[in-house]
Amino acid sequence: MNDTHTHTPTVSINGLTKNYDTPAGSVQVLRDVNLKLYPGEMVAIMGPSGCGKSTMLYILGLLTLPSTGKYTIMGQDMFGLDKHQQASYRREYLGFILQSCNLFEHSTVYENLEYPLIYSRCPVSNRRKIIEEALDKVNLMHRVTFPTNQLSGGEQQRVAIARALVNNPKVLLGDEPTGQLDSKTSEMVMSYFKQIIAEHDTTMLIVTHDVTVAKHCTRAFQMREGVLEPAVFEKGV
Ligand SMILES: Nc1ncnc2c1ncn2[C@@H]1O[C@H](COP(=O)(O)OP(=O)(O)O)[C@@H](O)[C@H]1O
Ligand SMILES: [Mg+2]
Repeated sequence: MNDTHTHTPTVSINGLTKNYDTPAGSVQVLRDVNLKLYPGEMVAIMGPSGCGKSTMLYILGLLTLPSTGKYTIMGQDMFGLDKHQQASYRREYLGFILQSCNLFEHSTVYENLEYPLIYSRCPVSNRRKIIEEALDKVNLMHRVTFPTNQLSGGEQQRVAIARALVNNPKVLLGDEPTGQLDSKTSEMVMSYFKQIIAEHDTTMLIVTHDVTVAKHCTRAFQMREGVLEPAVFEKGV
């Protein structure tokens, strides 16, 4: 993708910085990060451990505030909103696939997918079909009645993926969403993401260590010590 976009970006961040105050002094984790994400894009962020990827994702997810910077979703300024308004944006527009899957471990797979539908006031009569379709896409229909604490790490990650997608979020934020999957399952999940993105003009930001995953994306960035720059891949890798 290039600068030929004429429509409003789904997500726009400008001059984002984040400092943490630690006993050893202030640590700058993000340095002037700028990024625009457009409908239908799947964008990768790569980079070594500790460079600030998760921090950036948490800020975009309205889970953490930056030290400075501007953030808009579909033109609406996010940091000008109060906590309740932010929560409603989070619920309505954002989908998360975080590293710790944050599942309700004593609830069944079905229930874990039903909770976001309840919050979004999806009619009871529509829920089963939506849940079964999402589980089918990640190959988990045979686990629908299992409590999630009886699933493997990879299965839990797939539940988290299905759960993030049931409400068709405008912006999907994934922190190593395929990190616990074997390569075949990872490919299956990436195709699913692409299908969802194409169908709903979703925007996805995906933090990954996996070059194969990054190559599925429309653009890729590398983060180095809090600085975001375009990633360059060698041809044929
Ligand atoms: N709450 C916090 N307080 C102080 N330092 C933090 C906090 N959270 C993250 N950090 C530091 O910020 C840096 C970036 O962390 P993170 O965004 O999790 O990196 P990544 O996801 O790229 O591995 C790390 O050095 C980490 O130790
Ligand atoms: Mg991280």
